Amino acid sequence: MHGCRLQGGRPEISTSSVLWKLSGTMFFLYLLIVGVSAFTIQPEERTVPSGNCQFRGKHFKTTFGVEGEPVVLRCPQVRYWLGASASPHVNLTWRKNDSAGMAPGGEETQVRVEDGALWIVPALQGNSGTYICTVRNASYCDEMSIELRVFKKTEASLTFISYPQILTLSTSGSLVCPELSEFTRNKTDMKIHWYKDSVLLDQANEKFLSVQGTTRLLIHNVSVEDGGYYSCVVAFAHNGTLYNVTRNIKLRINKKEEETVPVIISPHQTILASLGSRLTIPCKVFLGAGACSTTVLWWMANNTNIESAYQEGRVTEGQRLEYSENNENYVEVPLIFNPVIREDLNTDFKCVVHNTLSFQMLHTTVKEASTFSWEIALAPLSLVLFVLGGIWMHRWYKHRTGKAYGLTALKTGHQDFQFYPSNIKEIK
Ligand SMILES: *[C@@H]1O[C@H](CO)[C@@H](O)[C@H](O)[C@H]1NC(C)=O
Ligand SMILES: *[C@@H]1O[C@H](CO)[C@@H](O)[C@H](O)[C@H]1NC(C)=O
Ligand SMILES: *[C@@H]1O[C@H](CO)[C@@H](O)[C@H](O)[C@H]1NC(C)=O
Ligand SMILES: *[C@@H]1O[C@H](CO)[C@@H](O)[C@H](O)[C@H]1NC(C)=O
Ligand SMILES: *[C@@H]1O[C@H](CO)[C@@H](O)[C@H](O)[C@H]1NC(C)=O
Ligand SMILES: *[C@@H]1O[C@H](CO)[C@@H](O)[C@H](O)[C@H]1NC(C)=O
Repeated sequence: MHGCRLQGGRPEISTSSVLWKLSGTMFFLYLLIVGVSAFTIQPEERTVPSGNCQFRGKHFKTTFGVEGEPVVLRCPQVRYWLGASASPHVNLTWRKNDSAGMAPGGEETQVRVEDGALWIVPALQGNSGTYICTVRNASYCDEMSIELRVFKKTEASLTFISYPQILTLSTSGSLVCPELSEFTRNKTDMKIHWYKDSVLLDQANEKFLSVQGTTRLLIHNVSVEDGGYYSCVVAFAHNGTLYNVTRNIKLRINKKEEETVPVIISPHQTILASLGSRLTIPCKVFLGAGACSTTVLWWMANNTNIESAYQEGRVTEGQRLEYSENNENYVEVPLIFNPVIREDLNTDFKCVVHNTLSFQMLHTTVKEASTFSWEIALAPLSLVLFVLGGIWMHRWYKHRTGKAYGLTALKTGHQDFQFYPSNIKEIK
């Protein structure tokens, strides 16, 4: 017998040996497959099967529409996909969350996808809801949802669907009819009608000027009465039907605000407090005629914000106060200790004030106010010593003045010369 041959010999041994060899081969094959698949099969598996898509969340902005008017929804995540709508390798689909699907049909349907955007012409209240846009290429897929709310065209709905805009009193400025790009593209003869509180603004009116070919309404010398609701309407033709596209604007008029350099007038450099008691240190800022709204004020402890430094809330920032005294503005933010503890004596507190013109801070430290203090007790004594010292200095100076010239001359020769009476005696 020379080893184990497949034919003959003890069958049980050869069988087990065959099994062993087979399993060895199988294992090797398995390794081979796994190894090869790591290089070839896996990348193919990475292609995203339909339905397996990353949800990026809901877009922060709700789209508002007016019943009977066209509405366009743009896929919110497309800007993350460079040139996605243009690329033939990217598949962009829309569906409404509440229905199984919303396959865009022929030209005649109310809802259709055009150039990646969802067009609803005309929008009905029933079209309100959540829409999900799916963007997919060979290797990646993601989804984002956007909400649409369609209102009836009533006065009441104005407050919901108006865009806030701000102009400054006694200046000239313009309102912009917002989010019209889908309807004004490739249009040179764009004509916008402007309404204030539902009354058409006449082109003959000198105060308002609808600037031809743009989406702007110029308002001259803005007054308080100019505030309120405006609408702009642009006509849009679609499949031979003319639709209006309406946008509402709520105009707020701001007073011209002056900016001044703030001056921190409180706190003092040191604040006396008793351990265990409650303490309030106001940070008071003088603004003169300057605006409070643009002045930011806060406290810090050891260069950390109060909220982070005292998460347990023992030390907090109080309510911000804005007030005027004799036509001059002040802002105040108190720092409240409840109570003061020993650690506070070693902490660097500072009040920081910031506006467009300056950035300032003022440091303050809390000192313990004990009932008996050597500093206070010795204060009269130090005063007496100070006065005596002063008298002595005065006398010495009078005595010395006569020798001033000789002293200066000597000094140039002796660099280490010191102004002590003993030295003066030696010079004599
Ligand atoms: C698919 O899109 C992703 C994300 O934009 C991109 O990184 C990837 O290169 C694209 N793949 C193909 C095959 O276009
Ligand atoms: C896009 O996806 C839809 C649905 O999955 C499919 O019917 C259509 O053929 C795809 N289009 C392209 C260009 O891949
Ligand atoms: C779709 O609707 C269901 C049920 O109304 C809700 O649970 C889900 O969060 C919605 N999905 C999106 C993306 O809004
Ligand atoms: C702007 O309007 C106010 C009244 O609203 C008026 O007193 C002022 O003279 C006007 N200024 C200009 C430059 O027209
Ligand atoms: C569109 O608005 C114009 C005036 O702005 C109005 O005369 C017209 O009736 C409106 N059309 C529709 C379809 O609402
Ligand atoms: C601030 O720093 C001082 C010294 O570095 C320390 O003793 C004190 O506890 C610190 N205070 C806070 C609130 O961290």
